[in-house]
Amino acid sequence: MDKQTITATSALRGSTTVPGDKSISHRAVMFGAIAHGRTTVSGFLDGEDCRQTIACFQKMGVAIHYDRNQGKVVIEGKGFEGLNEPSELLDVGNSGTTIRLMLGILVGQPYFSVVAGDESIAKRPMARITEPLRLMGAQIHGRRDGTYTPIAIPGREHPLTGIEYQLPVASAQVKSALLLAGLQAQGKTIVREEYRSRDHTERMLQAFGVNIDVSGNEVSVSGGQPLQARDVDVPGDISSAAFLLAAAAIVKGSDLRMTNVGVNPTRTGFIDALAAMGGDVTFENERVLSGEPVADIVVREKPLHAVTISGSLIPRLIDEIPVFAVIATQAKGRTVIKDAAELKFKETNRIDATASQLRQMGANVQATEDGLIIEGPTTLTGAEVSSFNDHRIGMAFTIAGLIAKEETTIHGAQASAVSFPKFYKTLRLLSE
Ligand code: S3P
Repeated sequence: MDKQTITATSALRGSTTVPGDKSISHRAVMFGAIAHGRTTVSGFLDGEDCRQTIACFQKMGVAIHYDRNQGKVVIEGKGFEGLNEPSELLDVGNSGTTIRLMLGILVGQPYFSVVAGDESIAKRPMARITEPLRLMGAQIHGRRDGTYTPIAIPGREHPLTGIEYQLPVASAQVKSALLLAGLQAQGKTIVREEYRSRDHTERMLQAFGVNIDVSGNEVSVSGGQPLQARDVDVPGDISSAAFLLAAAAIVKGSDLRMTNVGVNPTRTGFIDALAAMGGDVTFENERVLSGEPVADIVVREKPLHAVTISGSLIPRLIDEIPVFAVIATQAKGRTVIKDAAELKFKETNRIDATASQLRQMGANVQATEDGLIIEGPTTLTGAEVSSFNDHRIGMAFTIAGLIAKEETTIHGAQASAVSFPKFYKTLRLLSE
């Protein structure tokens, strides 16, 4: 596995963009494929996960042209009814979003399909998707009764039926899969969550001409509505920006601007948490791009103090918790992260991975059933750490390495290609 050596850096300064939003890039390809007409996507994330989504829909006969240099994808949508039976396995690689959203599409289709991914996907729970889809009448086979990959869909014999479903845990992937199945079902599908997860699906379906009702934490959609193609401009990914934000928040003298970043309120929990810690972070040039709020984010290094994060904030920063834990090591006092048991089911168990690797670097950290407790500030010391082949773990510990004394080696650093292919290059440019 590829490794990167990190040493303490000088201040991060200047202005940069960040790669396109992963969640929005996946959805743009999928919704473009099931829409009628041509969808052009700009600012598409050139990451491994999103390329798997393109490949899967190409295998279902959708013409998709991807110009990697331009970051442009052109999709010739064929409608739900225009997808073809794939002649090969639909391989999602490392991508949970691809498999879970795609299952919501596949269960409404008349043909046979098999989906699987890498070792990490094989360990991730699929019951959260297959159980409610079965309640809609979906036929699903798979390992351990369809709760783990590989999963086979024999092809629907009867139309799906809409359901009313309360999600056991907030999850945009599950919510989106049910809405996509709901669009192919008879009647209405209603999805409720205790806390609101990211709402890119709701926003983009509306933009594609679907009537969708959103009321508080409840979303409903009636079956049989077609999607109309439309162009999508993908903003920068706030989850990728979070690594640079974190670095600038803790590396002495930093002053950084990130332009054109998505600041959808269902995704800005990390900014709120950083501000609550006394961090200096502001939005400028706020505007709306393809139905999504976008801004430039300006961040300056400032001493931080500890906070407790829990409840409805957690789904709003779920992917940022590993790097949040890194900045918590530099904050004064006890930082408590709770209600985040979901972290165990990400690309790796992110509670264990974050705690064990932070400890390697000398942090005072304790893993709990549903989160982490971190005492700060501590001086971190460079160490040999592993990404566990999880992009966000590798990048979080790279940020830790920037403030550690002595050298840090990140094993499995290539995992960053999943969501931030030029991560190491960008960091180098900003600290020159
Ligand atoms: C995503 C939803 C979240 C997030 C993942 C992307 C999405 O997962 O962690 O990185 O694009 O819908 P859950 O739905 O499992 O919370």
